[in-house]
Formats: sequence, C-alpha cells, structure tokens
Amino acid sequence: MQSWIPLVPDSASTFSWKVDALYFYLSGVTLFFTLLISAVLIFFVIRYRRRTPYEIPRPVAGSHKLETLWTIIPFVIAMTMFGWGAQVYFQQYKPPANAIEVYVVGKQWMWKLQHATGQREINQLHVPVGRKIKLIMTSEDVIHDFFVPAFRTKMDVVPGKYTTLWFEATTPGTYHLFCAEYCGMNHSGMTGSIIVMEPREFDNWLSGNTGSTTPAAAGQQLFGTLGCASCHGANGEGGRGPTLAGVFGAQTELTTGDKVTVDEAYVRESIINPQLKLVKGFGPIMPTFQGQISEDQLVQLVAFIKSLPAGGQVQAPAANPAATPPRPAASPTQNSR
Ligand code: CUA
Repeated sequence: MQSWIPLVPDSASTFSWKVDALYFYLSGVTLFFTLLISAVLIFFVIRYRRRTPYEIPRPVAGSHKLETLWTIIPFVIAMTMFGWGAQVYFQQYKPPANAIEVYVVGKQWMWKLQHATGQREINQLHVPVGRKIKLIMTSEDVIHDFFVPAFRTKMDVVPGKYTTLWFEATTPGTYHLFCAEYCGMNHSGMTGSIIVMEPREFDNWLSGNTGSTTPAAAGQQLFGTLGCASCHGANGEGGRGPTLAGVFGAQTELTTGDKVTVDEAYVRESIINPQLKLVKGFGPIMPTFQGQISEDQLVQLVAFIKSLPAGGQVQAPAANPAATPPRPAASPTQNSR
C-alpha cells in the first residue's frame, strides 16, 4: 500500500505509473532549466561584473542562430509534454467496451453507487482487482467530482448529464475517494473508500449482498408503472413510440434527418425532454418526465433499455427477467398516458 516514492500517493491502478512518469518528466524538465538558468545567471554576474568605474560594455549584436535555437528547443520540449499528456489523457477518458459497469449518483453530501447486479453501496465501492471498471455518473443537485488519488483519475459529476470514468485497480487494498469539486458546506466530508479485492473475495462479497433488484429489473418495473409500455410496447403494439429493443448503442435517425447514437445521455434526454430529438416517423406526443422521476430512477430506466436485446420481438418473460420488457397488457397504467 505504501507508494514506492514518498512524494506521491499510493499507486494502485494501471494509470498510476503513467501519470507519475509524466509528472516526474515535467518536474525534471522544470528542475533542469531552473538549475541551468540559475547557474548561468550567477556565472554571468561574476564573469561580466564591472571592474572599473569607467568601463563601458561592448554592444551586443543579435544572433539568428541563437534565436532559432532557443525557439526550436523549447518548442520541441513543449511538444513532447503535449503529445505525452494527450496520450495519457485519451487513454483515461475513453472507457473500454468490456468494462464492468457501476452507476454512481452524487448528492450533497454522499456518493450512492449501484452495481449492475443490484448491490447498492453508499460512500463505498467494492471492485475486483485486475478488472476494468466503468463508472456512469450523474448528480442529483450540484457539480461534484469523483476523485481517487491512488488511481490517478478523477471526473466531474454533473447534474443533468452522464459522465464516465474508468480504471483498472492493480493492488488490493482500501483507497480514498474524495469529492474534488466544492459543493457546499459538507464538501470536505463527502469522502468514501474504494475497496479493491481479489476476484474470488469480490465474488463472495457480491453473493453475500443479494436481495436488491438489479437496476435493469427496477427499470423494467418503472417502465410498467410509468406507462411507457403503452407506447413503446415491445412488439410495437403501441405504435405511437419507437420500439426500444436493441436500440441501445445503435444509431437512429431523427425527424430532422440527423443521426444520433442511442447512449445513456440520449436516453436520459429523451425521458426528460422528449421533444428535443424526435425519432423519425413519430410525433411529439410523449410527455416530459422532468421532476417526476429521480436520478436513481432515470439510471434504472437507462439500465433497462440498455439490457433489451436486439431483435425487436421480446415479450415473453425469459430466463433473465432483466432482459425482457413488460408486456403491454401487464402494465397497470398503460392507458394513463
Ligand atoms: Cu461533492 Cu464536493
């Protein structure tokens, strides 16, 4: 758990050494030029000091060679910093496709987390070592920021949108989680811990924490109680809204002719502000759900729609209930909207 250099926090993710290496490179370059310039400065002060009261210095003519050199060398050094930094940045902010997903909702002043398998946690996140974990995050109130120093990664958690953060922990242990965006009186208390476990230990932990429904299953319930199924019926029975099976991750065409990718952000937006990006062939008849459902419930609906397999004809309850939308007939409020 102790970091190998006392200057830096614990190192416990695949990003850690990359960020540290870049950081030490920046510090090294800075230190090198600070020392060089100081040394030259001191040398010149002594070497070219005025020796007699009447000494007149010789005027200095410009030198193109020198000017070119001191333009090109710093430029090259700056570009190595830029290139290296961009590489590390893009790696961090482009989540891999095969990651385990965890939903995170920040609020004043706590972190609420839910695993795709249903387990809920507050201010704690258990993850297996050596696996890629992707957090899909939003906020119920103001901007927060999910920061795990030992993983060398952080990301703003913003109301009204989803942001993602991913990491792969390399060392089992317990690591600090901080809120890194001032968010009100108890901002400094909005902390938690990430508990990195051996995969087998993690599986034990997961199976010992059952009893909560998965976000997708909870979303399926909401889909029924909110009356979504009456228009978005699995087999297009409603016909008033586009079917949702298999649309997640695909592109869809809008009435404007534009195309959008159906991702978390688009699904969320379509629930909160349905008229904004209408799918081609459908009218502006869906009511807004703004203020009627919580961020938790939005996350559940997103998880449900995400879980619907492609093919369009999903209706009978399958072995995995989370993967099946409710039949329109089973919806208690199907005619309410
Ligand atoms: Cu949440 Cu600071």
